[in-house]
Parts: sequence; structure tokens; C-alpha cells
Amino acid sequence: MSAYDVVVIGGGPGGYNAAIKAGQLGMKVACVEGRETLGGTCLNVGCMPSKALLHASELYEAASGKEFATLGIQVKPKLDLAQMMAQKTESVTALTKGIEFLFRKNKVEWVKGWGRIDGAGKVVVTAADGQQQILETRHIVIATGSEPTPLPGVTIDNKRILDSTGALSLPEVPKHLVVIGAGVIGLELGSVWRRLGAQVTVVEYLGRICPGLDDETAKTLQRALTRQGMSFKLGSKVTSAKSGKAGVELSIEPAAGGLAETLKADYVLVAIGRRPYTEGLGLETVGLTTDARGMLANERHQTPAPNVWVIGDVTSGPMLAHKAEDEAIVCIERIAGQAAEVNYNVIPNVIYTRPEVASVGKSEEQLKAEGRPYRVGKFPFTANSRAKINHETEGFVKVLADERTDEVLGVHMVGPSVSEMIGEYCVAMEFSASAEDIALICHPHPTRSEALRQAAMDVHGAAMQA
Ligand code: FAD
Ligand code: NAI
Repeated sequence: MSAYDVVVIGGGPGGYNAAIKAGQLGMKVACVEGRETLGGTCLNVGCMPSKALLHASELYEAASGKEFATLGIQVKPKLDLAQMMAQKTESVTALTKGIEFLFRKNKVEWVKGWGRIDGAGKVVVTAADGQQQILETRHIVIATGSEPTPLPGVTIDNKRILDSTGALSLPEVPKHLVVIGAGVIGLELGSVWRRLGAQVTVVEYLGRICPGLDDETAKTLQRALTRQGMSFKLGSKVTSAKSGKAGVELSIEPAAGGLAETLKADYVLVAIGRRPYTEGLGLETVGLTTDARGMLANERHQTPAPNVWVIGDVTSGPMLAHKAEDEAIVCIERIAGQAAEVNYNVIPNVIYTRPEVASVGKSEEQLKAEGRPYRVGKFPFTANSRAKINHETEGFVKVLADERTDEVLGVHMVGPSVSEMIGEYCVAMEFSASAEDIALICHPHPTRSEALRQAAMDVHGAAMQA
């Protein structure tokens, strides 16, 4: 008989949620994690530390720029970067300890070390001291996550040429930070360091920022970030970066080909995407292979190998913590014989810049490509009373609804706190709500959430000034 019902490999949002769910369903479960702490990329070097620095740097900029002064608050803030980093580390530690607590509470065994599959139903774990143990199990859930995609010619040393982990722990504010890649990491961490005083130049291969994001939304964000002082070199590729005592010298060419130019920086952040992580996992011992987007699985998270399941960043779909969490719960419920599934049409996406960007469902470009007739309802925050009172009128809410049925198909927002507001439309879309449904619902006044209703009203041309 197998010692475990489930062994989960990886202790990130995919892995720890799967393990906790398995514990809750009464399964005998172990979670194998190679890091010193639980929580994976998200808690240790991703979502959480980046949000800690975004929050702190936002307040610093508000206090040091015109914003506080406009409100009649005169202060002269002084940056204490060491303390800013220390409070980030403290919060991260509290969060990772929180997962340890949840493991104990739900009878999940945390097996420390790197896991390797060794044939059907067997996981070999190698601890930091080289000690090995063999876990026998009925089911294996792979949740090994992702790692930064390397850029040929630009070697990450995490001293001057950084990946996101290095950019979360710099000992000083860069004078000139060059960010390669105008995606989520580049814009969030670029924002942190710009707010703290760095000149930031973002070099992007494509002719736009944030590929995949609704076009109008991406343009609005780029305009806002440019106004704040971030500069963009779109349609450009970095071909080499040489790190020396004087800093880093980058060679940049137009993506379409042409003359190279040199750009100097004291720090460079490489953020051109992440790739699935399966190194040393022993996939070949159960006949599994990967493609560019990681491990192959069906919509029930089953790999072609019996009783081997896969969830999170290491398999297809958006690389987001809440997507990994959803897959974790559904995967374990499936193992328990329940009928559960992830609704991939309703996975929200947030960029935690200022203004924030939040979206869910289809973009206008996707609907056009699908040939699906739709109506647009849009409401700017300049017409929202709470936004006006707070002097935070940048951005809008845009609702895309099916022209025939009025069902909400996509929502895109730019503005402060939209990360907190997108949840309303996630609920609406899960219940297949129409724009009219939202338009009929009373929202509190004065709040920014009134813009959600007004945009829905505007789908039928009936928005009012809030
Ligand atoms: P991971 O969190 O990567 O966890 C995998 C774990 O498996 C790791 O701890 C790793 O050590 C362990 N592991 C790997 N191989 C083995 C092995 N063989 N044996 C034992 N352990 C192993 N997403 C959001 O939704 N919101 C955000 O705001 C956000 N911000 C981010 C900011 C940054 C800077 C980064 C880099 C990412 C961010 N993400 C964000 C993405 C998010 O972190 C990932 O989508 C999420 O962590 C994926 O969870 P996962 O469990 O699939 O993998
Ligand atoms: P990304 O995929 O968001 O953006 C990468 C950008 O780099 C793209 O714009 C791409 O066109 C560009 N690029 C690719 N190759 C290039 C090259 N050679 N030169 C210049 N530009 C190049 O990837 P990113 O920012 O690294 O983030 C990885 C993932 O982490 C995200 O896709 C997201 O899933 C997750 N994440 C989520 C966050 C959130 O939810 N708020 C925050 C941070 C990360």
C-alpha cells in the first residue's frame, strides 16, 4: 500500500493550496519544497515583496511630490531604503510562516528538499545535506513553477544585471535603470525604482507595451507612465550588455534591423517573460515530455502518465498565482473523484502600477478576431465624484458586452484601486450577467465602484454623471 495518497512537488501557490486542500479532504499528503521557506515564487520573490515595495514607494512619491502638498500636507520625506527592504522582508517572513501554520493545521507534511520522480508512484527527495528519502504515493502533483527567461548576450549576475529577484533587493537606488521588457515585471519594478528616484528606460521588442492587454488600456497606461517620467524604447532589441566598473553598456538595435546604439546604465533588469521549471524532475522516468509552455496536460490537469497531475506556472495558461490556486483546488477535487473545473474565461489580470490596470475576459482585439459583435460601455474617472474629490481622476472603466445577448464578455479598467474593483465583474461573469444586470444594481455613493455601474449603463448609452 502507498504511504501517501498525494505527494505535491513544489510549495508555491499551486503546491501549497493543493496540499492544504488534500489535507482538508482527509488525504495523507506531503508537500516537497526545495527552498528554505514555503510560498514559492509568489510569497518569497514575486507577488508579495513586489507589492510591499510598490506600496511603500507609492507613499514615498506621494509625500515627496506634489500630491501631499495639494492636500495641504507639508512634509519633507527622507528615504530609508534599508528600512523599506526590512519591512518587506518582515512581511514576507510572516506570510511564509503562515503557510507553515496552515500545513500543521491541515496535517500536511512538509518534506524539505528537492523532489525527483523515480518511476510511477515514487518521489525521491534530496535534502540540503544530501540525505535522500523515498516517498511512495498514489498520486503525484507537479507544481514546480517557473523561472526567468534568459536573454542571450545579457548574462544575469544579480549585481548589475538583474532578474526580478535581484531588482527586489537592490542596496541603493539606481541612477539609471534600464528595463528590458515592457511587461508586468518591468513596469511594476520599473515604477518602484522610478518613484524612489531612478531614471528608468524601458526597452521593448514589440511596438507596444504589455502584449495581450487590451490595446486602448495599454496605451492609456503607457501615457500615464510616460507622464511620470518613465521612458520607452519600443520596437528595439538589446543584443548585448557588458558589465564593468563604470556600470553596464548595452547595445540596442531596432527590432526590424538597422543601426545599433549604445545605452549606459548602472543597473539593468531583464524581464522578458518566465519559462516553466522542470529541471531534474525525472519526467523521463514516467515517460513525460515538455514543450515551450511546459508540461502537457488535459483540461483536468492530468498528464499522459497515470496519476501524475500538473498545475500552475509549469503548465499552460497565464502565469498567475490565483490561476495556480484555482487549478490546485480543482485538481485535488478531481483526485477525490469530484467534478470540478477552472473557468479560464474568468481569470483576472492586474498590473499594480499607478494607475493600476485590471482586466478580465476578452479584449476588443480578441472579440474582433473572433468576429463576435459587441458593444462598448465606457466611463472615465474624471466623471466619478469620489475620484474627483481625491484628485485621482486618471483612467476609465470599459465594459464589452455581447451585442445580441448583452452578456459581459470583457472588462478593462485603468485607475487607482481597480485591482480591488475587478472582483465585482469576476462574480458577474461567473454568473453570466448582462451589462443591464450590473446597470440595475445599486452601488454606494460616493465610491469609485459607481464607475463600474456607469460603464455598464453606457453599454446602452445611458450613463449619468456620478
Ligand atoms: P511557484 O510559485 O514558482 O512555486 C514553485 C515552487 O516549487 C518553488 O518554491 C520552487 O522552489 C519549488 N520547486 C521547483 N522544483 C522543485 C523540486 N524539484 N522539488 C521541490 N521543490 C521544487 N502573480 C500574481 O497573480 N499576482 C502578482 O502580483 C504577481 N506578481 C509577481 C511578481 C514577480 C516579481 C514575479 C516573478 C511573479 C509574480 N507573479 C504574480 C506570478 C506568481 O508568482 C506565479 O504565477 C506563482 O508563483 C505560480 O505559482 P506556482 O505554485 O505554479 O509556482
Ligand atoms: P511578460 O510576458 O509580462 O512581459 C515580457 C515583455 O518582454 C513583453 O512585452 C515582451 O514583448 C518583451 N520581450 C520579450 N523578449 C524581449 C527582448 N528580447 N527584448 C525586449 N523585450 C522583450 O513577462 P514578465 O514581465 O517577465 O513577467 C513574467 C510573468 O510573471 C508575467 O507574464 C505574469 O504572468 C507574472 N507576473 C504577474 C504580475 C501580476 O500579476 N501583477 C506581476 C509580475 C509578474
